[in-house]
Amino acid sequence: MQIKIRPRWSLLENQATPESVYHQRRDILKKLGIAAVGLPLSTNAHAGLFDFISSSQQESVDHRRQLSGSPSSLSNSTLSLTPEDKVLHYNNFYEFGTDKSSPAIRAEKFITDPWKVTIDGMVNKPFSLDYDDLFNQFSLEERIYRLRCVEAWSMNIPWIGFSLRDIIKKADPQQRAKYVAFETLYDPKQMPGQASSRLGGGIEYPYVEGLRIDEAMHPLTMISVGLYGKTLAPQNGAPLRLVVPWKYGFKSIKSIVRIHLTDQQPPTTWNRLAASEYGFYANVNPNVDHPRWSQASERFIGQGNIFSSRRQPTLMFNGYAEEVASLYQGMDLKRNY
Ligand code: MTE
Repeated sequence: MQIKIRPRWSLLENQATPESVYHQRRDILKKLGIAAVGLPLSTNAHAGLFDFISSSQQESVDHRRQLSGSPSSLSNSTLSLTPEDKVLHYNNFYEFGTDKSSPAIRAEKFITDPWKVTIDGMVNKPFSLDYDDLFNQFSLEERIYRLRCVEAWSMNIPWIGFSLRDIIKKADPQQRAKYVAFETLYDPKQMPGQASSRLGGGIEYPYVEGLRIDEAMHPLTMISVGLYGKTLAPQNGAPLRLVVPWKYGFKSIKSIVRIHLTDQQPPTTWNRLAASEYGFYANVNPNVDHPRWSQASERFIGQGNIFSSRRQPTLMFNGYAEEVASLYQGMDLKRNY
């Protein structure tokens, strides 16, 4: 008999999601052949919130492919989740403009299929994946994770994807690899923010990110290819993006074309731009403020409008301390922000 011990974060979802929705969701995911695991969702996570979606933004065409034959298993009635339209229309993707509503509009025609992502560097078996491989080579599962932006807002998002370590193991990493570097597509013809410094916020492109190898191999670190039961929308980083739930959102790099193992700490986009404000680690930490604002609390983006919004406390490591705090044992988290 095989006994699977479920991690803490997968136990708690049914404590936060209404039971009927939880079961309905499980049934549908089972039909899709997608494993569903959860995360600890705070009980006050469905408070509030925010309504910034203009009617014009909602008129855009939806090109996303259902990752199933049936409608998404998660509807906006799931109280503790951020509604899908807000996940789709309140974005940071500077390649398509610096304000929150631009990516959904400017990325609408972004070509994500065909796609090629290469895994190389200090590995014995470098390889590339094309668009279809992303959906066929790894077993997809749904994970509801918190996303905490360094700007002090947060969402709860039902991602679909697999652990990054599945990709890394396939490449057979060498012992001397200490870091993993990630790179977003560089294509100024398609990404207007890369062609214009004014539109792209003065960032040096391509957008790059990095993790220590133990962070990259942690089972919570995810490559996402979908959300809310469908493939990713371009503005969310289609066709594949990183999701590191215990770190500020800027670590979760979108539309990745290269994953490179190295023995040097790689440069990261926001650190390059303002090293005193955005560190390499970027672990969510209520006790370490951004130089210009407090990180002690956050605005949860849920149902409702801006006038009913209320703040919730920021959690250490964004609520995943039990899983990841050991990675940073003995480290000064104020210095290594
Ligand atoms: N990746 C790229 N390539 N370009 C970006 O501008 N923004 C980051 C991250 N990944 C960004 C990126 C930031 S600041 C955040 S908070 C998240 O994406 C936002 O993800 P979302 O728009 O899907 O919520």
